[in-house]
Amino acid sequence: MVQAKTWILTKHFEGFPKDSNFELKVEELPEPKDGEVLVEAVFLSVDPYMRPFSKFRMKEGDVMIGTQVAKVIQSKNPTFPVGTHVVARSGWSTHTVCDGTGLIPIMPDWPQDVSLALALGAIGMPGLTALYGIEEVLGLQKGETLLVNAAAGAVGSVVGQIAKIKGCKVVGSAGSDAKVAFLKELGFDEAFNYKTVGSLEEALKKASPEGYDCYFDNVGGPFSAVALQQMKNFGRIAVCGSISVYNDTTPQTGPYPYLTMIFKQIKMEGFLQSRWEHKHPESLKRLMGWLKEGKLKSREHMTKGFENMPAAFMGMLKGENTGKAVVTV
Ligand SMILES: NC(=O)c1ccc[n+]([C@@H]2O[C@H](COP(=O)([O-])OP(=O)(O)OC[C@H]3O[C@@H](n4cnc5c(N)ncnc54)[C@H](OP(=O)(O)O)[C@@H]3O)[C@@H](O)[C@H]2O)c1
Repeated sequence: MVQAKTWILTKHFEGFPKDSNFELKVEELPEPKDGEVLVEAVFLSVDPYMRPFSKFRMKEGDVMIGTQVAKVIQSKNPTFPVGTHVVARSGWSTHTVCDGTGLIPIMPDWPQDVSLALALGAIGMPGLTALYGIEEVLGLQKGETLLVNAAAGAVGSVVGQIAKIKGCKVVGSAGSDAKVAFLKELGFDEAFNYKTVGSLEEALKKASPEGYDCYFDNVGGPFSAVALQQMKNFGRIAVCGSISVYNDTTPQTGPYPYLTMIFKQIKMEGFLQSRWEHKHPESLKRLMGWLKEGKLKSREHMTKGFENMPAAFMGMLKGENTGKAVVTV
């Protein structure tokens, strides 16, 4: 018998998440039946989407949604032998018995010197989001100027580096001076701390006086209202996330972008990375290739201890992470 620890959403979030929204439970798991496996979490992801998705995809009492890198420790399913590592959509659980549905084996030939934690970050869902936003949504071209916000985070840090690989000028914003220094290390051409610049409009103008061809938006809200004014004619905007509004209890209003969009003939498109799921294996290989060539660097913000999942999640929403926020069991 294995005991599984799980984090339950006891009450839907109202405003910023609180400790009282979560409860840690322990339960005995049954032995795997024929066709089933028992997986053990190694790294667990905390992601911004959990905040808005919880409202639509979960009911109170459910295990918190989420993805983890897990190891198969018992198996009655020949597809997943004992010792196999998988990316599992098992939620915030230390152990799970399942029939293999939703388990994705780690890509073959994963290099020994690359931590499996990256399968939740640069060589995982956030990296894929960056790649598809740039290639499928923005169609970023060599020589163009790209703006990305939440730039020191899991998605944003990969966005900026792919744009550099593609021969573009990259401007990034982030919420601390240490994060700005990290962006410079990654090769961003311009980076600024949006919390201390005073005027965001002036900071954007200074970083690129001629404006922006492409804007990879992770933040939304007032930041985007200002950034939109700095787009060039025929600019393209990939609406990836809007973390600045996820914890709002009442919807924010205006200013509305329509006139600017019309006069500048701007194209704005929202997207979910899952639209290109059929491309994931080939895309992960490309990301891994850039990592091995030293063109893509990755940083993980590790929190130790499964008991700290809620703290890691709330910390990420507050901006405590540089790079991908991951919890080690
Ligand atoms: N469309 C998709 O398929 C898809 C997939 C993955 C992620 N996303 C979205 O992409 C965005 C980034 O996700 P991620 O996983 O890479 O997270 P992340 O950037 O690693 O972590 C979140 C970051 O957001 C910033 N932030 C928090 N509150 C903010 C606010 N009010 N204003 C501005 N910035 C704020 C913080 O950085 P600072 O210190 O810089 O403020 C924080 O570190 C999120 O909006 C997420 O929902 C979308």
